[in-house]
Amino acid sequence: MDSITNFSLTESQAPLKVLFATSEAQPLIKTGGLADVSGSLPPVLRHLNHDIRLILPAYPEVVEKAIPLKEVATLYLSGHSEPVRLLSGVFSGNIPLYLVDAPGLFDRLGNPYVGPDGHDWPDNAQRFALFCRAIVAMALNQAGQNWQPDIIHCNDWQTGLVPALLHHEGNRPATLFTIHNLAYQGLFDRTTFQKLQLPSELWSHDGLEFHGKLSFIKGGLAFADRLNTVSPTYAHEICSTEFGYGLEGLLRHRDDRLSGILNGIDYQYWNPAADAYIHQYFDSNSFELKQTNKLQLQKEMGLPQDKSAFLLGYIGRLVEQKGIDLILELLPKLAQVENLQVAMLGSGLPQFEEALSDASERYLGKMAIHIGYNEQLAHRIEAGSDCFLMPSRFEPCGLNQLYSLRYGTVPIVRRTGGLADTVIDVTPQSLLDTSATGFVFDHPTAPALWEAIERAIEFYHRPASWWQKLAITGMRRDFSWPNSAIQYVDLYRKAILSPTPNPIK
Ligand code: ADP
Ligand code: GLC
Repeated sequence: MDSITNFSLTESQAPLKVLFATSEAQPLIKTGGLADVSGSLPPVLRHLNHDIRLILPAYPEVVEKAIPLKEVATLYLSGHSEPVRLLSGVFSGNIPLYLVDAPGLFDRLGNPYVGPDGHDWPDNAQRFALFCRAIVAMALNQAGQNWQPDIIHCNDWQTGLVPALLHHEGNRPATLFTIHNLAYQGLFDRTTFQKLQLPSELWSHDGLEFHGKLSFIKGGLAFADRLNTVSPTYAHEICSTEFGYGLEGLLRHRDDRLSGILNGIDYQYWNPAADAYIHQYFDSNSFELKQTNKLQLQKEMGLPQDKSAFLLGYIGRLVEQKGIDLILELLPKLAQVENLQVAMLGSGLPQFEEALSDASERYLGKMAIHIGYNEQLAHRIEAGSDCFLMPSRFEPCGLNQLYSLRYGTVPIVRRTGGLADTVIDVTPQSLLDTSATGFVFDHPTAPALWEAIERAIEFYHRPASWWQKLAITGMRRDFSWPNSAIQYVDLYRKAILSPTPNPIK
């Protein structure tokens, strides 16, 4: 594994030109943590004086929020018969924003990846191949902007073709591919490869082919000059059969170019001392005020208002990754625990939505769920809960445990990926050296999760000062962006200095 420890906190070298390519960015459009990262890392890089620019598809929601926009170029991209408009605006006050406007592909309301029927949009390959080709045009200064980036920062499979398409270009910028989640790979059949008119040499085991399929993510994994994941532990995990989805061999092969950089969080937007969405501001010096948020949350979720209840919160996509099945399995047992409540917010797989809704009726007054996406309620759950449940089967980084720490909501997490890197288990030793911040368990099973919850309940009923100390230790940990942003700059420079040799033999 590549080490990224030799970075200096003061940047003395020349500013870089960075094109940050992403399929979602908060506050323009969000389905999960990728949007949080895309919305909060670029402003910090801008603050460090780099010329960073963002490029996204022009989904209608984004266009509406990004107004005013102007048309700055018309692009003629191979594999696509219609000309594509490039729109330009401003993101976060001072960051140039480019939107790739192909109405036939992006002008649809709702989730950027999934249609109203809950299935992937059938033309996702065309949509994101076009997005990648527009990014390539920007990369090669062929988009009429008189600007060529030094590096393209690609994120997840939706931008995976970029490093592959750029690779044979003489005057190309460097590429960094960030893996936010290896489980989503952009896999399509071979005829799609042909339909997209991708260069034929890319159809190879060393290129985009993956067991007879076209894999977008392989474009990033095989061709990018540098690779990283969003936590050091996940960077190790994906090199193993358990977490690698068959890509572990390739990742091990590229080990010297792979690293892990922990995500940061936006300390202004997620700040209990000034959060406009919560009822009562508080900080680590006024922890007791958090109780007011608990009472308000109980009211909002239809749970009995009771300060002494032990309130477990959950926010997230309702998918297998998040260990929802473990929570479901435990609900009958949790409902038996006196004075325990569960408040959940999420949307995702219909079977999980249904099972959780049923449970909330069965365990009325003990468990409440809000199905859907609700940014403001998410803040209130962080502010009002005592503990936050995150029993993920795998978790590349995870942001909610970081928000929880900041809001004095003690996380209960599985020891995997970024959860393992950010939460310190309560043990006699960690209590003694005051490093403990949460409850950590190892096996992805309901009994293991139960054991961690039991430990939390038991600890909660010790003298209140013990719990306060635990929560406040978490609140005072620093997960802000600057440290991680500087590691990204270091990686950009390494990518620029040592391009990847052509992987195709
Ligand atoms: P992932 O990216 O795997 O979904 P993360 O923990 O990195 O997981 O980030 C999830 C982000 O999405 C957090 O900001 C979380 O608050 C938010 N989120 C997820 N589901 C919902 C929801 N139903 N309503 C509001 N916010 C949500
Ligand atoms: C992914 C991961 C999550 C991570 C987020 C942002 O969606 O599932 O763990 O925090 O990306 O990097």
